[in-house]
Amino acid sequence: MSKLAIDGGKRVIPEGMIRDWPPIDDTDKQMVLASLDNPKHAFGPNSVEFQNEFAQWNGNKFAIFTNSGTAALHMGIFASGVGAGDHVLVTSYSWSSSATCILHHNAIPIFVDIDFDTINIDVSKIEAAITPRTKAIVVVHLHGLAVNMEKVMKIAKKHKLKVIEDACQAHGALFKGKKVGTMGDCGAFSFNQNKCLCTGEGGMFVTNDEEMFNKAKMLWSFGETRTPVESRDYHAYALGWMYRCSDLVGAWGRAQLKKMDGYFKIQRENGAVLNKKLKGVKGLILPTEPTGHTHNWYNYTVRIDMDAIGWKGKPAEMRDAVRKALNAEGVPVGVWQSFILPDMTVFKAKNAYGRGCPWSCKGAGDGVEYKAENYPNALKHCYSHFGMTVPLRAPNRTDVAEKVAEGFLKVFENINKLDVEKINGMK
Ligand SMILES: Cc1ncc(COP(=O)(O)O)c(C=O)c1O
Repeated sequence: MSKLAIDGGKRVIPEGMIRDWPPIDDTDKQMVLASLDNPKHAFGPNSVEFQNEFAQWNGNKFAIFTNSGTAALHMGIFASGVGAGDHVLVTSYSWSSSATCILHHNAIPIFVDIDFDTINIDVSKIEAAITPRTKAIVVVHLHGLAVNMEKVMKIAKKHKLKVIEDACQAHGALFKGKKVGTMGDCGAFSFNQNKCLCTGEGGMFVTNDEEMFNKAKMLWSFGETRTPVESRDYHAYALGWMYRCSDLVGAWGRAQLKKMDGYFKIQRENGAVLNKKLKGVKGLILPTEPTGHTHNWYNYTVRIDMDAIGWKGKPAEMRDAVRKALNAEGVPVGVWQSFILPDMTVFKAKNAYGRGCPWSCKGAGDGVEYKAENYPNALKHCYSHFGMTVPLRAPNRTDVAEKVAEGFLKVFENINKLDVEKINGMK
C-alpha cells in the first residue's frame, strides 16, 4: 500500500493536472472586447440580451440581470410582499445571504433543520415552523440538488406563502424534469467566481409573474419603475437599491451561457465517475441524487461516517485530518461552511439594523430563538462534511475525476492510520 502524501509519500494528482474554472475561449474574448468598444457600459445591450437569453435558457418569462445572487434574493423577498417584522422560513445550512436577504428587508428569518441525506431543507419540518407572521419560504437548492418542489409548493399553497428559490448553486438542476427557478414564485441565480455560470460577480432574478417582476425591478434600480433602457422619469416609487450590472459582465455572461449545456454534461459525467468509484467506501457518505432529481454537481460534498470508522473524538477533528490528507494527495477538497446559519453572530446576537430591529419591532420577534442545538442534522452535516467544485468542472474531464477518486480511495484505506492530533497541529 503506498504511503500517504501527508506522511511524505508521492501525491496521487500531479501538480497542474486539475485546471482552473471557467474555461475562457475566443467567444468570451470577442464578446467582452466588443462590449468595450461600445460606449454603452452601464446596463448596455449585452445586459439586456443576457436577461432575454437567460430567461429563455431557463424557461422563465422574465429575468433581471443583477450584480449578485444576493441582490436577486433580496429582490425576491421584496417582490414576495414581505415587509418589516414578517417571518420568512429558510434552511438552517446555507450561504449566509440565503438568510440575510430576509434581514435586508427588515423581516425575520425562521430556520428549519435540514434533511441529512439531501442537505436541503427538511420539507417535513416546514409546516411546524410556520407562524401567523410567515409570508414566504426561501428554499435553497444546495450544492446543485433541487429541493422537492412538489411538496414545498403544496405547503405554500395551503398556507398562502410565496416561495423564493435560491438557485445560486443550481444552474440547470432539475426536479421531475423542471429547471430550478421555474417552480417557485421567483428565483435567484449567482454568477460569482465559483458558480456553474461564472462572470466573476453577478446574478439573475427570474420569475413568471409580471407583478413580481415589476416589484423586483423597482428594488433593483433606485425604486424606479423603468429600466435604464426605457424612457425614465427618475422618480423613486419605492425603497430601491442599485443592483444593476455592467454591460461588460453581461457580455461575458452571454458567452458563458452559450456553453452552459456542455458544461452541465461534463459535470454530470465527472459526478458519475466519482459516484461509481467511491460507492461502498467504508466511512464515506456519498452525495445522494434521489429519483426524480437531476443534480448539477456544483459542489460534490461528502460526509465522514464517524461510527463506521470507529472515531470517538470530535467529528470536525477527524474531518479536518482527512481533508488535509486529501489536499496533500492533490485533491482540492474544502470545508464549505464551518457554522450553521442559526449559529452565525448576525442572527444569534439579533444584530441586523441595530436597536433590536427587526426582532423588537411590535413583538415581531417574540418567541424567536436561534439555538444551534435545535438543528441537529445541520450540525452533524456541518462538522463531518467537505466538498469540491473545480475538479468536476470543464475543462476537467473524467481522467481528472478518476484521479480524484484514486486520491479518496488511498486516504480512506489508510484512515485509521491518520495521526489526527499531529495533522491538526494539536501536538
Ligand atoms: C446558496 C447561495 N445563496 C446565495 C449566494 C449568494 O450569491 P452571490 O455571492 O452572487 O451574492 C451564494 C453564493 O455565494 C450561495 O452559494
